[in-house]
Amino acid sequence: MRILTGIQPSGALHLGNYFGAMLPAIQLQEQGDAFYFVANYHSMTSLADPVARRKYTLDVALDFLACGLDPARCVFWKQSDTPEHTELAWLLSTVTPMGLLERCHSYKDKVAKLADGDAGAVNHGLFAYPVLMAADILLYDSNVVPVGKDQKQHLEVTRDIAIKFNNTYGNVFVVPEPRIREEVAVVPGLDGQKMSKSYGNTIEIFAEEKAIRKKIMGIVMDSRAVADPKPDAEKNLAVQLLRLVADAATARESEEKLRAGGFGYGDLKKALFENYWNYFAAARARRAELAADPAHIEAVLKDGAEKARVVARRTLARAKAACGLD
Ligand code: ADP
Ligand code: TRP
Repeated sequence: MRILTGIQPSGALHLGNYFGAMLPAIQLQEQGDAFYFVANYHSMTSLADPVARRKYTLDVALDFLACGLDPARCVFWKQSDTPEHTELAWLLSTVTPMGLLERCHSYKDKVAKLADGDAGAVNHGLFAYPVLMAADILLYDSNVVPVGKDQKQHLEVTRDIAIKFNNTYGNVFVVPEPRIREEVAVVPGLDGQKMSKSYGNTIEIFAEEKAIRKKIMGIVMDSRAVADPKPDAEKNLAVQLLRLVADAATARESEEKLRAGGFGYGDLKKALFENYWNYFAAARARRAELAADPAHIEAVLKDGAEKARVVARRTLARAKAACGLD
């Protein structure tokens, strides 16, 4: 089984990234042949700052390694060290119907957000991004692609492109399967919307204690009195987040206390902060150690790129030959 996923270096990683992408990826590295990369080409569709890109790329690598990614068990590298992705993307783009990309929610959402401001900010890369993502996946004959629910449509596009290419040029690509973690399909952010860097509603995995405490204690709740029973406790945002970072009994206890009444939101938020802080304590210590030696991280990524490139070159050659480009 070949497992592959990419993560964009576009800002500090948060609980949504962790439960939606990192944790499933880290668990899956035990179950097959895992290929994980930092999607720095993808980040260009929304970030035009080279200094930030470099920093975020290193940060993402540190975050993954600190959280348990083991370079001895998987191939871990930077996308731009395997430029075969961009060449394959071109081949794929010639069998990709425009309508398939025009229907992509993530593209439509971004265009809608930009529409009143700056229409010039809608670049072709943003539109063509699912084709590059298809190239990322197909280049490694990936069977399983662990992602959050918001990437499901991009996976469907990848499957459509693979099938179309295979029908046009012969059986070149493996058609991959998504692997969506349904129980944490969408991690809610501080405002109750999907947690996302672009909504400014995140709880980072690794940030200063004071800043995170402030964010969590600042979660806006309803105005019911402490004494009031809260029969809808399971819908409470802090309860939902607590379920992710606390053991099941602790989360259930808070939910029941809220339901019964007499348990204040302040205490609930405090419990959330403490459980969050403990959940990442070991990873935080490991990250500090890794951050002290950036040359080691560079070496890990270079080694990963060499391994990835062997596979990428082979698949690209196969695809080019099928198209008569050999
Ligand atoms: P963001 O929305 O913060 O920009 P990305 O789009 O870079 O996050 O997502 C990176 C990975 O993390 C993707 O696989 C995505 O599905 C997952 N992910 C991001 N936010 C969430 C969330 N709130 N819940 C579950 N998974 C998420
Ligand atoms: N588009 C994904 C995201 O924004 C990142 C990504 C790029 C990816 N290429 C990929 C994920 C290939 C899985 C497989 O989260």
